[in-house]
Amino acid sequence: MPEELRELLPDGFLTDLITATSDDGEPSLSDDEVFAAVLLSILAGGDTTVDLIAQLVTRMLDGDRELWRQAEADRSLLDGLIDEVVDPRRPDATRHLRFGRGACSCTGSALARAETRHAIEALLDGLPTARLVPGHEVRRMFSTAIQSVLDGLVVAWDVPEPT
Ligand code: HEM
Repeated sequence: MPEELRELLPDGFLTDLITATSDDGEPSLSDDEVFAAVLLSILAGGDTTVDLIAQLVTRMLDGDRELWRQAEADRSLLDGLIDEVVDPRRPDATRHLRFGRGACSCTGSALARAETRHAIEALLDGLPTARLVPGHEVRRMFSTAIQSVLDGLVVAWDVPEPT
């Protein structure tokens, strides 16, 4: 790739894929391989992360919204809550298989966690009074080792009076 074009590329995953070179200076990936990697990331990282966010919101708003209120006051709790939702069944929630293991591990797990943390922070900032609407209990459509798809999530919140 010409140097003047390379300078226009922003830092990030896509740029790393496009500009990666092997020892002989040749591009590591062909255009088709870059396309396949981007497509795989979009497919692998879309619904999986949306489901994780929805599950965490459900867990935090459940009951008397204790976790929601705690996280609103202390955002550092969010990483631990994400681990718990990723695998609530293990005594040590950080030792889970949801993102795979070894050669079969997820290359996007850090991104999925970061996206989830940012999404919840945005909700805590923008909709601090969010609550689950009674009578619209969340049902799980299906659940696998890596995904747990919710049927729906009905949430209400207070709109502040205009000042
Ligand atoms: C909560 C969200 C996610 C879950 C639960 C998840 C889960 C997994 C699992 C279990 C694997 C291993 C599959 C196997 O080889 O048997 C995997 C692979 C992969 N994931 Fe994720 N993933 C998530 C989010 C993402 C995101 C956000 C991205 C990227 C944008 C991503 C990209 C990939 C890719 C590219 C692979 C294939 C890695 C390889 O074979 O080298 N994933 N994911």
